[in-house]
Amino acid sequence: MSNEFVRRSLDEIRFWSRIMKEHSLFLKLGFRCDDAQLIQEANQFYALFEQIEARSHSYTELTDPEQIKQFNKDVQSAATRIWAFKRKVLGLIIQCKLPGGNNFPLLVDHISREANYFRNRLGELNEGKLEPLPDAIIDENVFFLRIMADHAKFIGHLLDPSERQLIEQTRNFSHDFDQLLFQAIDLSGMRPQSQTVPLLDQFLDQNRVSVASLRDFKKTAKELIEACRIKSIIHPLLADHVFREAERFLFIIDMFEATLTKGKPSPVM
Ligand SMILES: [Fe+2]
Ligand SMILES: [Fe+2]
Repeated sequence: MSNEFVRRSLDEIRFWSRIMKEHSLFLKLGFRCDDAQLIQEANQFYALFEQIEARSHSYTELTDPEQIKQFNKDVQSAATRIWAFKRKVLGLIIQCKLPGGNNFPLLVDHISREANYFRNRLGELNEGKLEPLPDAIIDENVFFLRIMADHAKFIGHLLDPSERQLIEQTRNFSHDFDQLLFQAIDLSGMRPQSQTVPLLDQFLDQNRVSVASLRDFKKTAKELIEACRIKSIIHPLLADHVFREAERFLFIIDMFEATLTKGKPSPVM
């Protein structure tokens, strides 16, 4: 059990600390060059999460669980701080105090939701209170389907308007994921009656098909951007970042599927 706690904690931190580090970079790139204070804050978060990422790789599954518990607490506090920074930036943008900046409000809200997810997960791990499997399946899918729907919208808005066919494809993905999200919310509203194995299994199957196809689209977009074959203002790292988040969602779906069909009692990942 302790080994499992250490393994899960390190897995979450290794994935999400890199993500938080990259968010700091994306925010920085979207600030105006005069916003020196905000740029400096973003740089500090970049360094902080880079450090956390390095520390997470210095531990192994054999590290003392008590040490990992403390590490989780430290990281949770860092995640709370970057969450607060993102919400502050969102407030500034929405109140039109950063005119001409390049961070969309939905993108800033989106990355704050990811920070919030990260800190909640660390809290759950430390308190040993992971959700029961049927609840975890619905909640994780509601969270990630919205993330995927947002990604489709971001890519569509950051492509050059002349890339008409690619933009059309992102609109289709956006629509597809909005529909899946509403289905997930409907299933959530019908709890606990909706939490039967056949319904949850079908829910996972249906989501997996769309996530795999969005993941492939992101991979292609990433390769086209890296080879400079399409016109956009998408940073190659952003393309890779959203690709990795889709991979993460697929990994979680597969884990749920395996647990659900094997009837193992183990909750969440
Ligand atoms: Fe992200
Ligand atoms: Fe994201």
